[in-house]
Amino acid sequence: MAGSGKVELAEALALGPGWRHACHAMLYAPDPGKLFGRIPLRYAVLMQMRFDGRLGFPGGFVDSRDGCLEDGLNRELREELGEAASAFRVERADYRSSHAAAGQRVVAHFYAKRLELEQLVAVEAGAPQAKDHGLEVLGLVRVPLYTLRDGVGGLPAFLKNSFIGTAREQLQEALQDLGLLESGSGRKTSAHRPQ
Ligand code: APR
Ligand code: MG
Repeated sequence: MAGSGKVELAEALALGPGWRHACHAMLYAPDPGKLFGRIPLRYAVLMQMRFDGRLGFPGGFVDSRDGCLEDGLNRELREELGEAASAFRVERADYRSSHAAAGQRVVAHFYAKRLELEQLVAVEAGAPQAKDHGLEVLGLVRVPLYTLRDGVGGLPAFLKNSFIGTAREQLQEALQDLGLLESGSGRKTSAHRPQ
Protein backbone atom coordinates (compact mmCIF):
# COMPACT_ATOMS: atom_id res chain seq x y z
CA MET A 1 0.00 0.00 0.00
CA ALA A 2 1.43 3.36 -0.99
CA GLY A 3 1.70 6.08 1.64
CA SER A 4 1.77 9.78 0.82
CA GLY A 5 4.33 11.06 -1.62
CA LYS A 6 5.76 10.34 -5.02
CA VAL A 7 4.89 6.99 -6.57
CA GLU A 8 5.84 5.35 -9.85
CA LEU A 9 3.07 5.31 -12.46
CA ALA A 10 2.90 1.49 -12.45
CA GLU A 11 2.54 1.51 -8.67
CA ALA A 12 -0.15 4.20 -8.89
CA LEU A 13 -2.10 2.26 -11.51
CA ALA A 14 -2.00 -0.83 -9.29
CA LEU A 15 -3.64 0.97 -6.35
CA GLY A 16 -6.98 -0.51 -5.39
CA PRO A 17 -10.47 0.61 -6.51
CA GLY A 18 -10.76 2.71 -3.35
CA TRP A 19 -8.36 5.24 -4.90
CA ARG A 20 -9.39 8.09 -7.17
CA HIS A 21 -7.09 9.29 -9.93
CA ALA A 22 -6.71 12.95 -10.89
CA CYS A 23 -4.64 14.37 -13.75
CA HIS A 24 -3.38 17.92 -14.15
CA ALA A 25 -1.26 19.56 -16.83
CA MET A 26 1.17 22.45 -17.05
CA LEU A 27 0.74 24.07 -20.48
CA TYR A 28 3.71 26.18 -21.55
CA ALA A 29 5.07 27.86 -24.65
CA PRO A 30 8.24 29.75 -25.57
CA ASP A 31 7.61 33.49 -25.22
CA PRO A 32 10.05 35.96 -26.80
CA GLY A 33 8.49 38.90 -24.95
CA LYS A 34 10.33 41.18 -22.54
CA LEU A 35 8.83 42.82 -19.45
CA PHE A 36 9.53 46.59 -19.44
CA GLY A 37 11.25 45.97 -22.76
CA ARG A 38 14.24 44.23 -21.19
CA ILE A 39 13.42 41.37 -18.78
CA PRO A 40 13.05 38.17 -20.84
CA LEU A 41 9.81 36.29 -20.15
CA ARG A 42 11.31 33.08 -21.66
CA TYR A 43 8.12 31.00 -21.45
CA ALA A 44 4.43 31.53 -20.89
CA VAL A 45 3.42 28.98 -18.21
CA LEU A 46 -0.26 28.58 -17.31
CA MET A 47 -1.83 27.97 -13.92
CA GLN A 48 -5.30 28.81 -12.68
CA MET A 49 -7.01 30.33 -9.67
CA ARG A 50 -9.30 27.61 -8.40
CA PHE A 51 -12.73 27.76 -6.76
CA ASP A 52 -11.06 27.19 -3.36
CA GLY A 53 -8.82 30.26 -3.65
CA ARG A 54 -5.70 28.22 -4.30
CA LEU A 55 -3.54 28.08 -7.38
CA GLY A 56 -3.38 24.83 -9.30
CA PHE A 57 -3.02 23.33 -12.73
CA PRO A 58 -5.99 22.70 -15.00
CA GLY A 59 -7.28 19.14 -14.89
CA GLY A 60 -9.26 17.05 -12.45
CA PHE A 61 -10.66 13.67 -11.54
CA VAL A 62 -10.64 10.85 -14.05
CA ASP A 63 -13.94 8.97 -13.98
CA SER A 64 -15.59 5.88 -15.42
CA ARG A 65 -16.44 7.70 -18.69
CA ASP A 66 -12.75 7.98 -19.46
CA GLY A 67 -10.94 5.18 -21.28
CA CYS A 68 -7.57 6.09 -19.80
CA LEU A 69 -5.88 8.74 -17.67
CA GLU A 70 -5.17 10.95 -20.66
CA ASP A 71 -8.78 10.77 -21.92
CA GLY A 72 -9.87 12.06 -18.51
CA LEU A 73 -7.23 14.75 -18.50
CA ASN A 74 -8.12 16.03 -21.99
CA ARG A 75 -11.84 16.03 -21.13
CA GLU A 76 -11.12 18.07 -17.97
CA LEU A 77 -8.94 20.47 -19.96
CA ARG A 78 -11.83 21.14 -22.38
CA GLU A 79 -14.24 21.70 -19.48
CA GLU A 80 -11.90 24.04 -17.63
CA LEU A 81 -10.14 25.80 -20.52
CA GLY A 82 -12.70 25.69 -23.33
CA GLU A 83 -12.62 24.59 -26.94
CA ALA A 84 -9.12 25.89 -27.73
CA ALA A 85 -7.89 22.92 -25.67
CA SER A 86 -9.27 20.64 -28.43
CA ALA A 87 -6.50 21.85 -30.76
CA PHE A 88 -3.97 19.60 -28.99
CA ARG A 89 -3.91 16.46 -26.90
CA VAL A 90 -1.86 15.83 -23.78
CA GLU A 91 -0.36 12.36 -24.17
CA ARG A 92 1.38 9.75 -22.03
CA ALA A 93 4.66 11.10 -23.45
CA ASP A 94 3.93 14.36 -21.57
CA TYR A 95 3.59 12.53 -18.23
CA ARG A 96 6.00 13.64 -15.50
CA SER A 97 5.10 12.26 -12.05
CA SER A 98 2.47 10.91 -9.67
CA HIS A 99 1.79 11.82 -6.04
CA ALA A 100 -0.38 9.74 -3.73
CA ALA A 101 -2.27 11.25 -0.79
CA ALA A 102 -3.14 8.28 1.40
CA GLY A 103 -5.48 10.32 3.65
CA GLN A 104 -7.81 11.27 0.79
CA ARG A 105 -7.02 8.17 -1.27
CA VAL A 106 -6.31 10.41 -4.26
CA VAL A 107 -3.39 9.90 -6.60
CA ALA A 108 -2.56 12.96 -8.70
CA HIS A 109 -0.76 12.52 -12.01
CA PHE A 110 1.10 15.44 -13.51
CA TYR A 111 1.84 16.25 -17.14
CA ALA A 112 3.61 19.11 -18.92
CA LYS A 113 2.70 19.98 -22.53
CA ARG A 114 4.70 22.32 -24.73
CA LEU A 115 2.58 24.43 -27.08
CA GLU A 116 3.24 27.18 -29.58
CA LEU A 117 2.60 30.61 -28.08
CA GLU A 118 -0.33 31.12 -30.50
CA GLN A 119 -2.04 27.98 -29.13
CA LEU A 120 -1.52 29.08 -25.52
CA VAL A 121 -2.85 32.57 -26.28
CA ALA A 122 -5.90 30.97 -27.94
CA VAL A 123 -6.51 28.98 -24.73
CA GLU A 124 -6.33 32.19 -22.68
CA ALA A 125 -8.66 34.02 -25.07
CA GLY A 126 -11.26 31.24 -25.06
CA ALA A 127 -11.12 30.43 -21.34
CA PRO A 128 -13.96 32.80 -20.32
CA GLN A 129 -16.29 30.70 -22.52
CA ALA A 130 -15.29 27.42 -20.85
CA LYS A 131 -18.00 25.42 -19.05
CA ASP A 132 -16.27 25.75 -15.67
CA HIS A 133 -15.31 29.44 -15.97
CA GLY A 134 -16.52 31.43 -12.98
CA LEU A 135 -17.36 28.18 -11.18
CA GLU A 136 -14.47 25.76 -10.60
CA VAL A 137 -12.04 28.04 -12.46
CA LEU A 138 -11.84 31.70 -11.45
CA GLY A 139 -9.21 32.65 -14.03
CA LEU A 140 -5.97 31.69 -15.71
CA VAL A 141 -2.65 33.17 -14.64
CA ARG A 142 0.83 33.13 -16.11
CA VAL A 143 3.74 32.26 -13.85
CA PRO A 144 6.52 34.90 -13.72
CA LEU A 145 9.79 33.01 -14.31
CA TYR A 146 12.13 35.93 -13.57
CA THR A 147 13.31 37.31 -10.24
CA LEU A 148 13.33 41.07 -9.89
CA ARG A 149 16.23 42.97 -8.42
CA ASP A 150 14.75 42.99 -4.90
CA GLY A 151 15.19 39.21 -4.91
CA VAL A 152 11.50 38.62 -4.15
CA GLY A 153 9.35 40.05 -6.95
CA GLY A 154 8.55 37.57 -9.71
CA LEU A 155 8.85 33.84 -9.15
CA PRO A 156 9.80 33.93 -5.42
CA ALA A 157 6.71 36.05 -4.60
CA PHE A 158 4.51 33.88 -6.84
CA LEU A 159 5.62 30.75 -4.97
CA LYS A 160 4.40 32.29 -1.69
CA ASN A 161 0.79 31.92 -2.82
CA SER A 162 -1.40 29.04 -1.62
CA PHE A 163 -1.29 26.01 -3.89
CA ILE A 164 -3.52 22.94 -4.05
CA GLY A 165 -2.00 19.57 -3.25
CA THR A 166 1.52 19.26 -4.61
CA ALA A 167 1.07 21.92 -7.31
CA ARG A 168 3.91 24.09 -6.00
CA GLU A 169 6.36 21.19 -6.04
CA GLN A 170 5.12 20.09 -9.47
CA LEU A 171 5.69 23.61 -10.79
CA GLN A 172 9.19 23.97 -9.34
CA GLU A 173 10.26 20.54 -10.50
CA ALA A 174 8.94 21.07 -14.03
CA LEU A 175 10.57 24.50 -14.35
CA GLN A 176 13.90 23.02 -13.27
CA ASP A 177 13.75 19.76 -15.22
CA LEU A 178 12.48 21.35 -18.45
CA GLY A 179 15.14 24.06 -18.21
CA LEU A 180 12.57 26.88 -18.34
CA LEU A 181 14.46 29.07 -15.87
CA GLU A 182 17.73 29.06 -17.74
CA SER A 183 18.76 31.72 -20.20
CA GLY A 184 19.96 30.87 -23.68
CA SER A 185 23.52 30.97 -22.38
CA GLY A 186 22.69 28.44 -19.66
CA ARG A 187 22.97 30.99 -16.83
CA LYS A 188 20.37 31.27 -14.06
CA THR A 189 17.90 34.13 -14.29
CA SER A 190 19.67 37.27 -13.14
CA ALA A 191 18.06 40.03 -11.15
CA HIS A 192 16.48 43.02 -12.86
CA ARG A 193 15.20 46.31 -11.54
CA PRO A 194 11.49 46.96 -12.31
CA GLN A 195 10.57 50.52 -13.28
N1 APR B 1 -1.32 18.23 -7.26
C1 APR B 1 -1.86 17.32 -6.47
N2 APR B 1 -3.17 17.19 -6.24
C2 APR B 1 -3.94 18.07 -6.85
C3 APR B 1 -3.45 19.06 -7.71
C4 APR B 1 -2.08 19.12 -7.91
N3 APR B 1 -1.54 20.01 -8.71
N4 APR B 1 -4.48 19.78 -8.18
C5 APR B 1 -5.56 19.25 -7.62
N5 APR B 1 -5.25 18.23 -6.82
C6 APR B 1 -6.14 17.34 -6.08
C7 APR B 1 -7.28 18.10 -5.42
O1 APR B 1 -7.01 18.25 -4.06
C8 APR B 1 -8.44 17.16 -5.61
O2 APR B 1 -8.49 16.25 -4.51
O3 APR B 1 -6.71 16.49 -7.04
C9 APR B 1 -8.07 16.32 -6.81
C10 APR B 1 -8.90 16.64 -8.01
O4 APR B 1 -8.48 17.83 -8.62
P1 APR B 1 -9.48 18.99 -9.04
O5 APR B 1 -8.84 19.70 -10.19
O6 APR B 1 -9.84 19.78 -7.83
O7 APR B 1 -10.76 18.18 -9.46
P2 APR B 1 -11.88 18.45 -10.57
O8 APR B 1 -12.30 17.10 -11.09
O9 APR B 1 -11.42 19.47 -11.56
O10 APR B 1 -13.12 19.00 -9.85
C11 APR B 1 -13.18 19.56 -8.61
O11 APR B 1 -13.91 17.98 -7.08
O12 APR B 1 -13.64 18.07 -4.80
C12 APR B 1 -14.56 18.13 -5.86
O13 APR B 1 -16.49 19.28 -5.33
C13 APR B 1 -15.22 19.46 -5.86
O14 APR B 1 -16.55 19.73 -7.84
C14 APR B 1 -15.28 19.87 -7.31
C15 APR B 1 -14.39 18.93 -7.99
MG1 MG C 1 -9.94 20.80 -11.72
